[in-house]
Amino acid sequence: MDKDSSKRITERIIVTDALPYANGPLHIGHFGGVHLPADIYTRFLKRKGKDVIHICGTDENGVPITIAAEKQGISPQEIVDHYHNLMEITFKNLGVEFDNFSGTSRKVHHELAQDFFLNLYEKGYIEPIITEEFYCPKCERYLPDRYVEGTCPYCGYEKARGDSCESCGSWLEPEQLINPQCKICGSIPEKRKTKHWYLSLNKFQKKLEGWLNKKKWKKTVIRYLQGWMKEGLKPRPITRDLKWGIKVPLEEAKDKVLYVWFDAPLGYISSTIEWANKIGKPDKWKEYWQGKNTKLIHFLGKDNIVFHGIIWPATLMGYGEYILPSEIPANEYVNLEGQKISTSNNWAVWLHEYIEDFDPDFLRYYLSVIIPETKDSDFKWEEFQERVNTELINILANFVHRTLKFIQQYLDGRIPEPKILRKEDENMLKKTNELVDQIDEALTNFQFRRAVQYFIQIAAVGNRYYDQMKPWLTRKEDKEQMKTTMHLCAHIVHLLGNIGELFIPFGASRILNMLNLERKDWDSLKEIQIPKDHQIGEVNPLYKKVEDKEIVKEIRRLKMSYASIEEFKNLGLKIGLIEEIEEIEGADKLYKLTVDTGEKRTLVAGLKGHYTPQELKGKRIVVITNLQPITIRGVRSEGMLLAATEGENITLISPDQVVSPGSPVS
Ligand code: 2FM
Ligand code: ZN
Repeated sequence: MDKDSSKRITERIIVTDALPYANGPLHIGHFGGVHLPADIYTRFLKRKGKDVIHICGTDENGVPITIAAEKQGISPQEIVDHYHNLMEITFKNLGVEFDNFSGTSRKVHHELAQDFFLNLYEKGYIEPIITEEFYCPKCERYLPDRYVEGTCPYCGYEKARGDSCESCGSWLEPEQLINPQCKICGSIPEKRKTKHWYLSLNKFQKKLEGWLNKKKWKKTVIRYLQGWMKEGLKPRPITRDLKWGIKVPLEEAKDKVLYVWFDAPLGYISSTIEWANKIGKPDKWKEYWQGKNTKLIHFLGKDNIVFHGIIWPATLMGYGEYILPSEIPANEYVNLEGQKISTSNNWAVWLHEYIEDFDPDFLRYYLSVIIPETKDSDFKWEEFQERVNTELINILANFVHRTLKFIQQYLDGRIPEPKILRKEDENMLKKTNELVDQIDEALTNFQFRRAVQYFIQIAAVGNRYYDQMKPWLTRKEDKEQMKTTMHLCAHIVHLLGNIGELFIPFGASRILNMLNLERKDWDSLKEIQIPKDHQIGEVNPLYKKVEDKEIVKEIRRLKMSYASIEEFKNLGLKIGLIEEIEEIEGADKLYKLTVDTGEKRTLVAGLKGHYTPQELKGKRIVVITNLQPITIRGVRSEGMLLAATEGENITLISPDQVVSPGSPVS
């Protein structure tokens, strides 16, 4: 080792994603708010040659798991294993790359969490307190947080959980609920004495304050944490009366487990230990977690801020030896079609279902555009289609395709050598180089939305340059110039393939394959690196457009699943008479129908190509009238008609005799 490098301390980075509860599948809210930004960020750092590990796993303890297990009549371990595996596959299918994806029911994690508990206990940071807790006399059990339901004291939502309110996002204690009920049987619970162990957060108030004051985190995060600090930190219970979870390592607490929020963040460490074991360097995790020069970056949603900004650092401070969080780039929520995502109402786009229908890059792209960095954002299927088709496909894929096709068709698939650079060429390079710097700067500051816009702008610059230089003309009139143009266009395609790996990794790797070029280092992105006389690979279209009918299907599925089977009767099925049929501008599969269902209503239906207007006029159909109206292609659709699909065919469901419009169907 030479003198210099021995002095240099390697900087290490740990990127963590909030561990999803293994109690149900992942949806776009998880992905857009946590895992996608974390993945883009880690990919970015890796490409810059940083020593970074991306750590995650499933949160497998606590009440969320036992409730799901009870609901489905299987054991908590079965629930956990099922969703762990589903999530692991889903992440892979969406291109999320983890260095390790563990789970908190594993031995390594139990041992670590118990060690942390004992360490803090011995230092006097954990103390027992006798309190009253809800107990359900009918179920004969204590009811920890989520087992109690009632009215939220802040917003009046009637189905708030004992730990938080899904409607307004407040963090709650079961005692705060108005009209509390046992979630399992609906009985009114009573208060009973029980002993719990409390983490003395009050003892960390000063130290945390000093530490937080130095942080230059997002305003939303700081404001939230300061609110907590101002109120004064109080001891918080970190044990629960529950059978599933990590046993409290004290003789007198044999029936209790650690509160899931005490053990979950420790999952970041245990997952790293597991990783170190897997790569055959069992001590390596310490270099990250206990090395002075490590940055610890936690990606999470806003409901997790207090745990990561106060309780978790207090735990680490109490133990000592460990580093503390460096950044908490927390995001707000992704809503869906104007409403909060609700897993219990099935108002969600499930990632494992999405993958069956669309390219993973489309979701990565659209969600990058709407990552809720400063406020909640809204996922809209129509906007998804619009953004993908106009930006990702019309701008980016089109530029890649026209460039490579030209090279294939007129230059024998060989990228020509550039000759003299003119002003237009220089200007174009200046612009793309600026954009590369802007992407770098935006990502460094966790501004993913800006970054992805700059990325698309590179392709837009490429298109403008191509149009301006007209290689299809210069091919005949000024060969030398055409060669320069095409060389530089290939350079832009190379840029897109490289930077695209962060946002749209599947398409990006196809781009590099078509170019037949290796990826380059992030720091040499601006250099033009195309070997002399380089032969490109086979050229294929990068993506297929999202069609109207695919979007209509998704919106339908959403609205249908929103109304559960029990609510079937409320769907308001009625006989409708089709009166008018109109075209919708720009939609090649849709009609706008005026239907009499006792009153006139407009429906947007994907029937074009299956029925002619003449066939539809005067037809009696079955309409779902009680759906929330949606706007498709600017037309408000007030319901849905029933049709059977078989392969590509669509057949309307009609009564077999004449029935008056508005007659109920049941
Ligand atoms: O809110 C959640 O989904 C929790 N499972 C997040 C845990 S994050 C961390 F602490 F592990
Ligand atoms: Zn009960």
